[in-house]
Amino acid sequence: MDRYLGKGDHNMKNRIKKVKIGRNSPCPCGSGKKYKNCCLNASKKVLTLKQEYKRKYDIRLKEPEEIEGIRKCGVLLLDIMDKVSSMIKPGITTNDINTIVHEETIKAKAVPAPLNYHGFPKSVCTSVNEVICHGIPGNRVLNDGDIVNVDITPILNGFYADANKTFFVGNPTKDGKKIVGVARESLKRAIEVVRPGARLGDIGWAIQHYAEGQGCSVVREFVGHGVGLDFHEQPQVLHFGKRGKGIELVPGMVFTIEPMINLGTRKLHILDDKWTAVTNDNALSAQFEQTLAVTETGCESLTPFEL
Ligand code: MF3
Ligand code: CO
Ligand code: CO
Repeated sequence: MDRYLGKGDHNMKNRIKKVKIGRNSPCPCGSGKKYKNCCLNASKKVLTLKQEYKRKYDIRLKEPEEIEGIRKCGVLLLDIMDKVSSMIKPGITTNDINTIVHEETIKAKAVPAPLNYHGFPKSVCTSVNEVICHGIPGNRVLNDGDIVNVDITPILNGFYADANKTFFVGNPTKDGKKIVGVARESLKRAIEVVRPGARLGDIGWAIQHYAEGQGCSVVREFVGHGVGLDFHEQPQVLHFGKRGKGIELVPGMVFTIEPMINLGTRKLHILDDKWTAVTNDNALSAQFEQTLAVTETGCESLTPFEL
């Protein structure tokens, strides 16, 4: 039976005849099979996973060549991080860290992503003690017992890798050991969760459950993020949440996990420089970050270091 769909159109010439083909009718292609067993599926637009994640979530799933580009950038990042590690000692300033990171990045024909990023004035973030993140390198002298987070993001051949570590300056204090240990273990436990079929909420839960169980608090105002073709891409990766909730992880997703863990309150304020995030009680905060790619079977760190 033909069905005529042209309501309201009185110009016979422009009327369009649309034929509704029943699922059980003979397929119009002439195969002799039922339509539902033949061309029906081909006529439905089947979205690839890549198209679906782009449309639904604005997430760019990466091709193997792109992951290789990010991996190479990660190798450079870790090389710079090692150079930083060997220079950290009482008496240096955070500016000294900036100088090393900037020069090593340029030497490798890469670009330091933080420099001029939304007006950030330096090439690396250095966050000391009560500073949670986005500390601006300057004249602050590192003292024995301090902790300092160094967050490095080079751009190599257009690809971004993003990672950070918190270092002890000289001899660690009891509080320093505690908060750095909990932050390190939080990232480790979060990475163990990452595989296809898991959800973003599983990552947040793993961090929150562990860190709060240790009597520490989890910062909520800053999150992990998609990364690779740009500095900050979708999705946002919360460091707290509920198991089984949130977007499903699929191969080709590349994102950071970067929990900021506080010894006291999770509440923070931003200094007048518009960047430096500081704990409201001035208690210690520590962080570790890696860039991860979801694989067919689990995940690969593109900035791998021992946790
Ligand atoms: N590297 C930080 C992150 O992990 C972002 C720093 S933005 C900057 O996302 F402008 F402060 F560099
Ligand atoms: Co990051
Ligand atoms: Co970072």
